[in-house]
Amino acid sequence: MPYRTHTGAALARGALLIACLAAGRSLAQDFGDTPYVPTPQNVVERMLEIAKVGPRDYVIDLGSGDGRLVITAAKRFGARGFGVDLDRRLVRLSNRLAAEAGVAQRAVFYERDLYQTDLGRATVLTMYLLPEVNLMVRPKLLAELRPGTRIVSHDYDMGEWLPDFQTELAAPGKTVGVGQRSKIFYWVVPARAAGRWSWRLTLDGKVEEFELALSQQFQKIEGTLNAGGSTARMENARLTGEAISFSVRAGEFRYDYSGQIMNRAIEGTVRVNGGGRARELSWKAGRIEAWEPRFTAPDAPPVPG
Ligand SMILES: C[S@@+](CC[C@H](N)C(=O)[O-])C[C@H]1O[C@@H](n2cnc3c(N)ncnc32)[C@H](O)[C@@H]1O
Repeated sequence: MPYRTHTGAALARGALLIACLAAGRSLAQDFGDTPYVPTPQNVVERMLEIAKVGPRDYVIDLGSGDGRLVITAAKRFGARGFGVDLDRRLVRLSNRLAAEAGVAQRAVFYERDLYQTDLGRATVLTMYLLPEVNLMVRPKLLAELRPGTRIVSHDYDMGEWLPDFQTELAAPGKTVGVGQRSKIFYWVVPARAAGRWSWRLTLDGKVEEFELALSQQFQKIEGTLNAGGSTARMENARLTGEAISFSVRAGEFRYDYSGQIMNRAIEGTVRVNGGGRARELSWKAGRIEAWEPRFTAPDAPPVPG
């Protein structure tokens, strides 16, 4: 992506740091953290729309600034949630703005380091941090957020964890960057699907046994299915949160699987086309063995310890 070049990232970081310095804060204080730059309101609303935020959602904003993400999620979309920020004045301001907006019960702000924040309640997580901070926080997101949690980031991606969706839009009034434009990146936290799975299907009165060896890097899955000694690669494989789907071709038969991963089981349906007809069967798979998914890039340095 063009903006991810060293020059682009450095420019963006420079612009943010300049904004920070203009606000009178020291460079030393902000190194490694993200200075305060607000997300333009139209971008806030688009981020929350992309995540399909609604009254059942719990939104957490990491580095919440003046609180606009969580306040808008509460006021316009009926959600609840909280924001955390290191800056006490911004936290006070956010709680005051939430009260003025009539959503103080549903939008709360804490003076807290984002790395010390428990993310377990989130159904939606928002952030506008620096590119390297996104990478530093990525393992925490993958470890603490439940599968299916939606993440929306303003302007910066998460490196090798490719987004499920991204867009760019005009951002009138934006005080950093070039051309008053913003990028939005969207991910769904993937379930841990990697491992060996097995199941049986009864086709035309005959019981067939299947075994799937599934590898996973973030939401990207690949696998080989073994049935009666012959193997076939998974095709069109998708993992979105806990929802998994893939197709397999074996001779004149084509199997289209779709289901939900629930810890040690997958439940769903399989459409079988072949032998001159199509039918839909229920599909229940059990996990024989769990493998650790690759949530780091192949070329990333090994995690110490
Ligand atoms: C770019 S601003 C984004 C503000 C708001 N989320 C928005 O989009 O309008 C980043 C915010 O993160 C806060 N911040 C930086 N490092 C942090 C940390 N380690 N923990 C909590 N907040 C942090 C800064 O004080 C700043 O207010």
